[in-house]
Formats: sequence, C-alpha cells, structure tokens
Amino acid sequence: MLPSPGPDAAVLVTGASSGIGAAIARELARRGHPTLLVARRGDALADLAAELRELSGQDAEVHALDLGADADLAAARALVEDDRVAGVVNAAGFGVTGRVAEIADQQDALDGLVRLNVLALHSLTVAAVGALVRRAAADGRPGAILNVSSITAFQPLPGAASYAASKAFVQSFSEAVHTELSGSGVTLTTVSPGLTRTGFADAAGTDAFDRVPDLLVGEAADVAAAGVAAMVRGDRSVTPGLLNQLSALGGRLAPRTLLLPALDAGMDLYGA
Ligand SMILES: NC(=O)c1ccc[n+]([C@@H]2O[C@H](COP(=O)([O-])OP(=O)(O)OC[C@H]3O[C@@H](n4cnc5c(N)ncnc54)[C@H](OP(=O)(O)O)[C@@H]3O)[C@@H](O)[C@H]2O)c1
Repeated sequence: MLPSPGPDAAVLVTGASSGIGAAIARELARRGHPTLLVARRGDALADLAAELRELSGQDAEVHALDLGADADLAAARALVEDDRVAGVVNAAGFGVTGRVAEIADQQDALDGLVRLNVLALHSLTVAAVGALVRRAAADGRPGAILNVSSITAFQPLPGAASYAASKAFVQSFSEAVHTELSGSGVTLTTVSPGLTRTGFADAAGTDAFDRVPDLLVGEAADVAAAGVAAMVRGDRSVTPGLLNQLSALGGRLAPRTLLLPALDAGMDLYGA
C-alpha cells in the first residue's frame, strides 16, 4: 500500500515525460506526493516538474535517463534506494507494429522494446521490492509498486507480437510477485489499459489510432486515476473501462484457434 502523502512518501515514475506516466505523476502530485521523474527527455520532465511542484507543494526531481542503457538503468535502480522513496511506477514502454517477417529489418527497435518493456521493468521492480521490503521490515513503513501492462497482455497479438508478449511478461511477473508480497507491507499492482490517447502511436510510427472509433480510445488521466487508486489500496490488478475488461476476459477465455485468426484479420484492418 502507498503510505499517506508527505515528504517521506515520494514516488519514482518512469515514462513521466508524456502520456500515461505523466498523468500518473500528476495524479500522485495532486494527492500530495513528492515525485522523482524519469525518462530520456529532460526538457519535458523539467516542465512537468515545475507543474507538479505547484500542484503538490512538494518536491519534483528530474532524472533524464535512458532505461534501455545499462548505466542509466543502474542509476535508476540506485534512486530506488533513496530513503524517501515509498513507491515506484514503471510506465516507460513503447510498441512496434507489423508482422515480424515484414519488420525483421527493425531488429534494433524490436530488441529495444524487449530491453525497455521487459528488462528495465523487471530490473526496477526487483530493486524496488528489495528496498521497500527491507524498509517495511525495519520500520513498518508500507511501500507500493505500480506496473503498467496492457490489455494486449491477455492473448498473443499477430501484428504486434513482440509488444503483446512483453506485456504478457509484465502481467504474469507482476501478479506472481503481488502474491509473494502478501503480508510484507509492500504491494505490487498492475494496471492494464486499452487504447489510450498518448504519444504511443507516434512513438510506434503508426496512425492506427486514427482508424478506430473515438469511443474505443481512452484518456491517460482516467488510466492514471484508476491505476493510482488501485496502487493506494494495494490491489493486484486493474483494467480501466468496461470495454477493456470485456476484451481482457475474451483474451483469457476464448479458444486460441478462433481468437488468433480473428485478431490477425482485425490487425490487418487496423493497419498493422
Ligand atoms: N497508449 C496506449 O494505448 C497504451 C495502452 C496500453 C498500455 N500502454 C503502456 O503505457 C505505457 C506508457 O505509454 P504511453 O501510452 O503513455 O506512451 P508515450 O506517451 O509514448 O509515453 C512513453 C514514455 O516512455 C518513455 N520512454 C520511452 N523510451 C524510454 C527509454 N529508453 N528510457 C526511459 N524512458 C523511455 C518516454 O519518454 P522519453 O521519450 O522522454 O524517454 C515516455 O515518457 C507504456 O508501457 C505502454 O506500453 C499504452
């Protein structure tokens, strides 16, 4: 569970320079938490930090780090050891769309996706669990982690195979660790959004979001509100929005022999 807001209940947020990470940082600041903001674009983080200091009356630190680079990932792990840090949010991530055979020349982007969405999230989560559990055992302070997954975590997705597999890792790993942490004073929550209006489509180099009805695209602020509320309570997982909950249920329960060809055709229409 996330402790009550105050100077010693700071939360480190990765991917805070835009989209869902920025919205989560705003939601935490609105509640009165100091923040440590992590992403590559220092200028965007500095602008957000100024806004958050106004909003929270608390500190907001800027840490311009590339979590896909070993040295910067180690620097982010060191930040988690800071005694003021009571929470960690792993929101940094990106997608690549296209059939693997057609995008095999984008080897660096696909490997980078796994490095950020899987390795960096795993590494920071392990570091956070170690530091927060140690502190909870020493002085009884609760701690909380929030990992950003996706509804693509619940089934394989032709046309976004690497991305969906990376989110399946996030979902499986996070739900298992949530259960391991029972009774430790530290919780791990997963938020699994559906399509959300952010910089994600631009980063993925796709106009696919323009091809789906507005009704199916959610807002980052709503994802942040649901994710932070679940993190504060220490819930296992939350999927914001009824349509996304139905999609997650279908992904889990529908026979793969029927589901995969339908998704394959759907992703064709979606331009992936
Ligand atoms: N938008 C959706 O439809 C959707 C749906 C489900 C799940 N999600 C998940 O939500 C999370 C946030 O994505 P978003 O939609 O908010 O997209 P976004 O607006 O593009 O934000 C992605 C964030 O990740 C950061 N980032 C990217 N590469 C990084 C690196 N190497 N090191 C450090 N930070 C890095 C970006 O900052 P810099 O560029 O400044 O580094 C940015 O702050 C991702 O995990 C994504 O998979 C998104």
